[in-house]
Parts: sequence; C-alpha cells; structure tokens
Amino acid sequence: MRVFIKTYGCQMNERDSEALAAQLTAAGYRMVESEDQADVLLFNTCSVREAAERKAKGKIGYLKKLKSRNPALIIGALGCMAQRLGHELLEELPHLDFVLGTGQLHMLVPTLTELAAARRRLALTEPSAEVLDAMGAHLPAAWSAQIAITRGCNRFCSYCIVPYVRGREISRDPADIVAEARRLVAGGVRELLLLGQNVAAYGLGGNNNPPPPDCSPFADLLEELDRIPELLRVRFTSPYVSYFNDRLIAAIAGSRTVCHNIHLPLQSGSDAVLRAMNRQYTRAGYLEKVAAIRAALPDVTFSTDVIVGFPGESEADFQLTRDTMNEVGFEQAYIFKYSPRPGTRAAALTDTVPEEVKEERNRILLDDLGARVAAGLRSYVGCEVEVLTEGVSARNPGRWTGRTGTNIVVHFEPRPGLEAGTLRRVRVTRSGGVTLFGELVE
Ligand code: 5AD
Ligand code: SF4
Repeated sequence: MRVFIKTYGCQMNERDSEALAAQLTAAGYRMVESEDQADVLLFNTCSVREAAERKAKGKIGYLKKLKSRNPALIIGALGCMAQRLGHELLEELPHLDFVLGTGQLHMLVPTLTELAAARRRLALTEPSAEVLDAMGAHLPAAWSAQIAITRGCNRFCSYCIVPYVRGREISRDPADIVAEARRLVAGGVRELLLLGQNVAAYGLGGNNNPPPPDCSPFADLLEELDRIPELLRVRFTSPYVSYFNDRLIAAIAGSRTVCHNIHLPLQSGSDAVLRAMNRQYTRAGYLEKVAAIRAALPDVTFSTDVIVGFPGESEADFQLTRDTMNEVGFEQAYIFKYSPRPGTRAAALTDTVPEEVKEERNRILLDDLGARVAAGLRSYVGCEVEVLTEGVSARNPGRWTGRTGTNIVVHFEPRPGLEAGTLRRVRVTRSGGVTLFGELVE
C-alpha cells in the first residue's frame, strides 16, 4: 500500500508526520510524494488559527470526487484539528474514513490494518500517554534531525488551542532522548532541533511555576547532548520566557553545540495585552531576560512570535509591541493576526480589532522587520562567518547554502568533495534582503 501524508502547522506536526512515516515504512507501507499515486491519503492537521483548519477541510472536501471514482481509497485526518473535532469531522466530511487525534497517533498502523480487513468509519481521540514513547521513530536522516522532548502544554495562554488539542504537558525520559540523539548522530546527523511547546519547562513534571534560577532539567539535557562528540549543533524551539533562567543561560554559554539563536515568543509588547493573554511576564521582564541572555552570549540573535489584533489591543498597545520589537532587533519574527479559537478563554471576548486594522498592523511589523533584517545583514559584508553546510541551494543549483549558528543563511560556491553537515568558514562578499553571499575560506 502506498501512503501520502500532507502536513499542516508547526514543526511538532512535521516531526509527528516523520515519525508516522517511519512507522508506516517499518510496517511495509511505501511513502509516496504525490496524492495520485497513493492508496491511503493522510492529513496531519493544525488548529492554531481558523485559516489552518479551513485549508485542511477544504483539501479533504475536494477529494470527494476522487473517492467516488476510487472507493478503495482510504482518507484519514490526524493531529490537532482531528483531535478538536473528532466525530464532528466524520459527519462533516462523509468521504473521510477515519480520524486520529494527537493522543492516538501511535494507533495509525493498527487502524490501517483494521480498515484493510473491514471497512468502517472511526474516530479515536482519547488522550493516551503511550503516544509519547511511540513517537521516537525517524526516517533515514541526512545531517539534521528533530527530536520532540515534550508533548502538550500546561500554560493556557488565553488565545491558544494547543493545551486543548495536544493535552497536558509530558516530558520524555532524558535517557531515551539521549539514546535517540546518539542513534541519529551515529547515522550521520550533525544538527539536532529539540521540539516542545515550552522546551524550557522540560522535566519539571508539568509544574506551572517557573523553577528557581539554579534549576533547569532542560539545561541538564543540553549538557548531556553536548557530550556527544560528532554532534555539531543543537537548536531548540520554543522556550517560554519565564522559564529561561540563569541556570539555562549559563548552560548555553558553556555549551559547545547550542546555537546562539533563541526563539523567544513575545506575543505582545503591552502589559495590558500580555495580562489578557495570560502571559506571565511584562514587557520589562521580557527585555530584562533578553539583556541577561545578551550579556552571556554577546553574538546572540533572537526570533519571536507576535500576535496582532488581540481583543482590546489599542493603537497604543500596538505601538508598544512595535517599539519592543525594534528595541530587541529580532533577526526573524513570525507575526500572526489574532484568530479566535473555540473553547479558549479569549474566544469569550469580543474580537474588537477589525480585520483591516489587523492587516495594517501586520504589514507595519513586517515592513519594520524587513528593513531591520536587510540593514543587519549589510553589517556582515567583509566579515568571516562559520556555517554548517546544508547542500545545494534550492534557488540556484550552482550554489550551496550554509547557516550560521545565529541562523543566517549564506550562499556560496561549492568546492569538489564538499559535504553537507560540516562546519566551514565563509567570507561574506555581499548581502541580500534575507540572506548573505560569500566565498569559502580555506
Ligand atoms: N491566533 C493567532 N495566532 C495564534 N498563535 C497561537 N494561537 C493563536 C491564535 N488564536 C500564534 C502564537 C504562537 C504561534 C505558534 O501561533 O504567536 O506562538
Ligand atoms: Fe502545531 Fe499548535 Fe497547529 Fe497543533 S495547533 S499543529 S501544536 S501549531
């Protein structure tokens, strides 16, 4: 049987899809790249904004004709939207065969076996802890791989659907994570991306109070990974600012592998909006943390997530967000227009900011960011940087790309014998809008 998986949403979903593809391959299924070659079509869905749900539903809805021509086709919805809607999704999409929520992903292979024996429609959405250990499988990786270290979230930011669709936060055993990392590195992986809704809360047992300054099981884990000799780089996403304590900062400063690029979600620069979002920090607290990280890692770059148009966000609130972003000088930012999510606390608030205003605020922040990033990149011209080589550039087959530890993409001419996943020095010769260009140094 040939299987096609389409993934929506975040890196955690990408990682889940990879683990599912590895489980399917081990069970004798063949993964294919296009839906018209497949006997099974899977959609790993996202609920974070309404648009993400609309996209996946539209896509599955569109397959109705294909299914009526080929009734043997099996169509499944997985992941966050599948969790949120469950049976409702089966009712809404009559040609959908099955729904597997986030806690039931490990049931994919048994479900497909069952459906092959006898067709029926089913929705599995019970939370289950088994999924945690079942999701460690990987496809053969090149030089970079992702490891999920936690699942779920306990924070309950008032806008966010994640705690409802991914359930309570659970951390994997550090020994399992290190073993998974060692296996990947033995297979050639040189860079690891650690994933979790709040990675800095790793190992705290779901306790919602940020730990004391000298305690961070996440820092302990980073130190363990640092001891894997062939591992060159570790990145992670995302830490909640209140959990980013002194112990963690010191561990990163002392680390050989952890990249000096921190994704630190800001969401808003207004204390009033942060409070309404149930974010447990203030603008000043956020800026203090940035300053503490910068003091320990002078070359660090930051990226962030920001929501514009949260209910009640005034022009003055928005200006505070804009000012905070300019003050930090983010190297990258993901800006989202607020989208009310059913069942969250903010959904009960009136969505006061008109769509055009959200659009305008979104554009202003993107313009600021574009100008700042281009100016920042110009300052690299003439300097030497260290990159991890990534292989042939997607845009120009004559060039290769590499990435600095601070997450800047550099294009350069390859030399014969150059391999992906190695550290190389590049002299920067010019800058573009979002990337750098340079020459390999001996
Ligand atoms: N509306 C808009 N953006 C959202 N995010 C989470 N929930 C919503 C929502 N309801 C954004 C946050 C989060 C990122 C993954 O998505 O900025 O950090
Ligand atoms: Fe990822 Fe959240 Fe979307 Fe789920 S709802 S796929 S956790 S972004």
